[in-house]
Amino acid sequence: MTHHEMWLPESSTDHLRGRTLRVDGEGVLLDTVRREAARAAMLPATTDADVTIDLDESLGPETFRLVRRDGVTNVVAGDERGALYGWFELVRLGARALGDDVPGQVNRPAHAMRMLDHWDNIDVHPVMGQVERGYSGGSIFYDAGEVRADLSRVGAYARLLASVGINRVAVNNVNVHAREARLLTDDLHEVVRIAEQFRPWGIRVHLSVSFAAPILLGGLPTSDPLDAEVAQWWADAVARVYEAIPDFGGLLVKADSEGQPGPFSYGRDHADGANLLARALAPHGGIVHWRAFVYNHTQDWRDRSTDRARAAFDHFTPLDGRFDENVVVQVKHGPMDFQVREPVSPLLAAMPGTRLALELQVTQEYSGQQQHAVHLGRPWSEVLGFRPSGDDGPTVSELAGGGLAAVSNVGDDFFWTGHPLAQSNLYAFGRLSWDPQLAPSAVLDEWIALTFGDDPELARTVHGILDDSWETYESYTAPLGVGFMVNPGQHYGPSVDGYEYSPWGTYHFADRDGVGVDRSVATGTGFAGQYPEPWRSRYEDPATTPDELVLFFHHLPYGHRLHSGKTVVQHIYDSHFDGVERVERMVASWEQARGRVPDDLFERVSERLAEQLRSATEWRDQVNTYFLRKSGIPDERGRRIF
Ligand code: GCU
Repeated sequence: MTHHEMWLPESSTDHLRGRTLRVDGEGVLLDTVRREAARAAMLPATTDADVTIDLDESLGPETFRLVRRDGVTNVVAGDERGALYGWFELVRLGARALGDDVPGQVNRPAHAMRMLDHWDNIDVHPVMGQVERGYSGGSIFYDAGEVRADLSRVGAYARLLASVGINRVAVNNVNVHAREARLLTDDLHEVVRIAEQFRPWGIRVHLSVSFAAPILLGGLPTSDPLDAEVAQWWADAVARVYEAIPDFGGLLVKADSEGQPGPFSYGRDHADGANLLARALAPHGGIVHWRAFVYNHTQDWRDRSTDRARAAFDHFTPLDGRFDENVVVQVKHGPMDFQVREPVSPLLAAMPGTRLALELQVTQEYSGQQQHAVHLGRPWSEVLGFRPSGDDGPTVSELAGGGLAAVSNVGDDFFWTGHPLAQSNLYAFGRLSWDPQLAPSAVLDEWIALTFGDDPELARTVHGILDDSWETYESYTAPLGVGFMVNPGQHYGPSVDGYEYSPWGTYHFADRDGVGVDRSVATGTGFAGQYPEPWRSRYEDPATTPDELVLFFHHLPYGHRLHSGKTVVQHIYDSHFDGVERVERMVASWEQARGRVPDDLFERVSERLAEQLRSATEWRDQVNTYFLRKSGIPDERGRRIF
């Protein structure tokens, strides 16, 4: 074994061993199901069988249903993908899959597009390494400046993704450097090889492209989206891609953002830019994912009128209705940048005439970089279920008609994700994009059962460590939604003023009297006004802003009393002391897992927990000391602050 098997160890199919299976129909994905069954040591049958799989188109795409009759479990699937997903449901259910209480409801994904984005570079980038914001070693796709000769691990990855319903993968970084730009043209034959690994698992490959590709790769003098030659260049390039990869998914673009080229250079807007690519893709059924992460990253910190949180909304809402049908505008879940706590991006509720995708970050850039055990199912579930226009309005999941996309967290590390427990995040993203209404803690338990098998005590231990680990992380890092306070550049560990005088637009404005960003309409940047009611009014006033976001929206005196009854500064002290104590308990409880999990896994998690405790302590002491020194207000409980 060259890598850990994540949630599909051999034992996950124990209940199917020796049973008989009949699969009716022909096709690449049905062959995959047959191979999976053989791998599970099921016996093929032509007539009577314990399990049968057959297609009934009336169910619709990607859909399946389990029917139990006369001692036979029948997977009825709307198409081949549905059959594959139905197979993995049999795995997930364990012994229940062959019992009379199989859940019989129709299983249909809430989102047609369930995508993972890889921020992988072919070359090792001098600052970012090979995988930008990657914490799991090198890329599974690329090595030594080339696509890997042996891509078998990509196949293993594809299998894992299919088992949680992922159906699209973008295979290179949205920051497209010169080497990676060539995947679209000169290296297309290599992308063909990557697509071959994904195809048997029903996963379509996408590429990130540079908006300047016509100049970079085509030798044209311009990449102006309204230039006819530029349009022709894209049409030709895309046609060649589809000739080589008929099931190619489409293109992903980061334009006019953090130094990436875009339509602004030509006085054009993002609808012009996105439609240019959309028109090249349309004849082939392809999609362009156009990211809304556009803001000024060279801001002057002295300038209090510019608010990065406003940027996506300000850039994109005027364009609503102008995007072609095969454009998906991809919106980060928060208005800033994947912070541990942000309000939901108001853009998600402001583009009724545009297909939107929600973008999440499975890789833990701002949530402990896979050194800290932080399970993200809970915050994602909150975001997906949030109703920007109040209780009668749609959820974020419903507003994201273009589906879900997330930055992957895997690499060539033996455990795939550096921290073995971070595998749970990949799992949860897949399951929640299939069904956003699943309870995150039930999804966590599914992952635990599949990964660790039937050991109730171990399950309790792992559940106890992960279930509220996001709240734990939040409690010892930046307080009350104010965000950042991380070391600039690599974003790991505390640096309270690390970004305070930087050009990136991420400030907390702490002074001797208080802390937080005034984003109200009345006296601040006006960001609160980007929300529909009732949230616009709620966020406008500290009295109706939820505590956990209050410093995102308001600059408040240290003595301001929160809904919790605590003052802001006492909340900071209490939550930071509490957070470290919670990590101490995590460390202690992991001891229960000794001897119950493989030694290498036990050791890896132990090492990471030790680092988490060190880092959390550092966060606690720096943040508490900073605010004690700024405010001069002592801790009510007289604990040690430096
Ligand atoms: C963050 C991250 C970058 C990334 C960017 C993006 O700013 O730090 O590495 O390129 O997001 O989403 O494009």
